[in-house]
Amino acid sequence: MTNPSLLILPGDGIGPEVMAEVRKIIDWFGARRGIAFEVSEDLVGGAAYDAHGTPLHDDTMARAQSVDAVLLGAVGGPKYDVLDFSVKPERGLLRLRKEMDLYANLRPAQCFDALADFSSLKKEVVAGLDIMIVRELTSGVYFGEPRGIFTEGNERVGINTQRYTESEIARVARSAFELARRRGNKVCSMEKANVMESGVLWREVVQRIGDEEYPDVELSHMYADAGAMQLTRWPKQFDVIVTDNLFGDLLSDLAAMLTGSLGMLPSASLGAPMANGRPKALYEPVHGSAPDIAGQGKANPIACILSFAMALRYSFDLGAEADRLEGAVQAVLADGVRTADLMQAEGGSPVSTTQMGDAILAKLD
Ligand code: NAI
Ligand code: MG
Repeated sequence: MTNPSLLILPGDGIGPEVMAEVRKIIDWFGARRGIAFEVSEDLVGGAAYDAHGTPLHDDTMARAQSVDAVLLGAVGGPKYDVLDFSVKPERGLLRLRKEMDLYANLRPAQCFDALADFSSLKKEVVAGLDIMIVRELTSGVYFGEPRGIFTEGNERVGINTQRYTESEIARVARSAFELARRRGNKVCSMEKANVMESGVLWREVVQRIGDEEYPDVELSHMYADAGAMQLTRWPKQFDVIVTDNLFGDLLSDLAAMLTGSLGMLPSASLGAPMANGRPKALYEPVHGSAPDIAGQGKANPIACILSFAMALRYSFDLGAEADRLEGAVQAVLADGVRTADLMQAEGGSPVSTTQMGDAILAKLD
């Protein structure tokens, strides 16, 4: 088998700073575990605009299509606010997601024991929490036609359209069921079938895929508003949640904050399987380029490191190595090592981005 290939796109702001820590970890896996990743690096976002006048060069796009996985830092920053919409840094990221057709967005909400106090919920509600939200990413109300602001009589009307085809629902449902089989074997599908026809179809299709292809996975359905309540009341009842683009946007942000800081949150966006059986895949921290702390060595690299752990698990079938890396993060946090974003009001002194990366490396050893 050929070596696993990885395209690294550090991007802007704290992107390059957190990615430098991931590079050390990738090197560790090469030197100590004999896993030789074929790593290439390229520009995205504002960095690509500065070099090429476009937030994503065609060559970079082609390379992203040919590798096993793409790992991205963050894009954007105030310097680029004046740019035309068509060349804004975010367009680079959107082009990657669109042309790779990454329809399943995976957002884990996992509570590291050492940070359970950090949640706005009671410790017993979040301690040990480990759920995964699968959000449909390429269709639904953010893309449906007709859309726009129109004039009707003497006033304007704003229109967006929720639209899902059976095949769009089926493929994201399969992603969720496949994930559940590797986790707690439970899927909860969320929509508003009580008031939306697209929700009726969603429920019907997810149920059919479950019955026909995944009878071994426990499937339940919930209205998305009730789901929001249950996520804050007793989130540990869930394993995998699958939902549409709009509800997923809200529910994944809600679930993420159950567990603490933006600096801790990874994500994956997966598409159809490639010829080698691996899904098209883009991994990235949930946070942005954090211009307020960029260049100061304050950024928490854990979100980006955990995104790489997701790549190990979902692109490279290295689940045990992903566990090892997540275990090292857990151990460092248990030791009380904290970047500034993870400090409680009581104080103590924070470590730098590099120190956090080094502490995780030391635990890996
Ligand atoms: P942001 O996520 O960059 O920052 C929000 C707050 O969280 C800031 O106070 C920041 O310092 C803090 N923060 C974020 N990541 C952190 C980390 N790893 N460690 C410690 N603290 C961290 O969101 P914001 O400020 O709304 O956007 C800044 C820029 O990033 C904008 O240009 C925006 O368009 C872009 N952005 C890019 C995203 C991406 O590349 N996927 C996602 C969100 C925003
Ligand atoms: Mg959002």
